Amino acid sequence: MLGKFSYCNPTRLYFGEGALSALALELPKYGKRVLLVYGGGSIKRNGIYDQVVASLKACGKEVFEDGGVMPNPTVEKLYEGVRRARDCQADLILAVGGGSVCDYAKAVSISVFCDEDPWEKYFIRFEDAVQKTLPVGCVLTMVGTGSEMNGGSVITNHAQKLKIGHVFGDRVFPKFSVLDPTFTYSLPKHQMVSGCFDIMSHIMEQYFSGEDDNTSDYIAEGLMRSLVHSSVAAVADPHDYEARSNIMWTATWALNTLIAMGKTTDWEVHMLGQAIGAHTDATHGMTLSAVSLPYYRHIMSYGLPKFKRFAIAVWGVDAAGKSDRQVAEEGLAAMERWMKSIGLVMHTSELGVSEDMLDGLVESTLVMDGGYKVLTKDEIREIFRQSL
Ligand code: NZQ
Ligand code: ZN
Repeated sequence: MLGKFSYCNPTRLYFGEGALSALALELPKYGKRVLLVYGGGSIKRNGIYDQVVASLKACGKEVFEDGGVMPNPTVEKLYEGVRRARDCQADLILAVGGGSVCDYAKAVSISVFCDEDPWEKYFIRFEDAVQKTLPVGCVLTMVGTGSEMNGGSVITNHAQKLKIGHVFGDRVFPKFSVLDPTFTYSLPKHQMVSGCFDIMSHIMEQYFSGEDDNTSDYIAEGLMRSLVHSSVAAVADPHDYEARSNIMWTATWALNTLIAMGKTTDWEVHMLGQAIGAHTDATHGMTLSAVSLPYYRHIMSYGLPKFKRFAIAVWGVDAAGKSDRQVAEEGLAAMERWMKSIGLVMHTSELGVSEDMLDGLVESTLVMDGGYKVLTKDEIREIFRQSL
């Protein structure tokens, strides 16, 4: 059964090789002053920066730059971005990069016309953005987060040892996003597979919750099968357009809020991963891969029917003559083999976590109540210990 819901996704997508030409359609809709936001320089090395600037100039835009957005954007960088957007009186923020750049652009967009401290307002008190916001457009270069078609924004506060995501309403979604799979060819393998696991995790967070028969879970299974297949192909040949395009589209669907409609969701793996991110600044997808198997093995018996279904539908486990538990375990074992085969981080010690950090990690982990087991602090500690 699906519960009641109302659904709207206002982001217009332009997908496929050459999709950047759509900037000529979108840019004229906004004022003259554009704040061009990007990361540490990959877009200058792979030529995307030049193409974007040429489009902006061709549309007669005045371009102001805000580069240097780091992976896992910090609250200090957010304050700086707000000052820049105010100083140049931006009409549009154009984010060119991965989830960090897109998230940052959204956080700046909702803070420019806000007198309060955005960290306190949005990421501690979880208030919505009700005042005027700046429109955001995205040109995606790293696949995984789904930030190109959702209202999410994740900001890290290292001083407070907190990495917090807030999912905002429709007004904070990008107005448009350009998705050219060839823009991801230059990603290092480490980033590409990290993005793949981020996608997998987004789907699993929404799938492993509830026991109803609902369409969202069937969609989720199809997305996971496509991802597993395409990720293996992309690792074998990073310029495999078919695989790259499928991964890009799967990422968007995995977190454009659609597969969460009418059902409960978990998100505890992200809470564990974000705690690691707050303490180590590690790559997002790898924080998730390192904790997932200990987490899922821990909660498996509380949601056994879904874990059995996952094993059969996603991993093709043959259930004949086996107990439910055996089938479920074989599904997680198949997932583990896939994770290792594409080169994911399987232990948090590889991300800089050590035994003496466990208490701090437990303190930084938010506890969700939509999964199969609401974790106690002792359970969180044990999952972190097993992830080392
Ligand atoms: O900074 P540059 O030099 O551009 O390099 C980036 C960065 O080092 C590089 N990169 C990106 N595109 C490239 C490239 N290198 C070569 N060629 C390209 N085409 O990749 C590195 C990682 O980029 P980043 O944007 O940090 O990765 P990702 O897309 O995984 O974003 C991670 C952030 O998104 C948040 C995470 O917590 C993290 O802060 N998330 C956002 C979500 C959302 N909005 O809904 C949900 C997710 O669960 C996630 O939490
Ligand atoms: Zn994620």
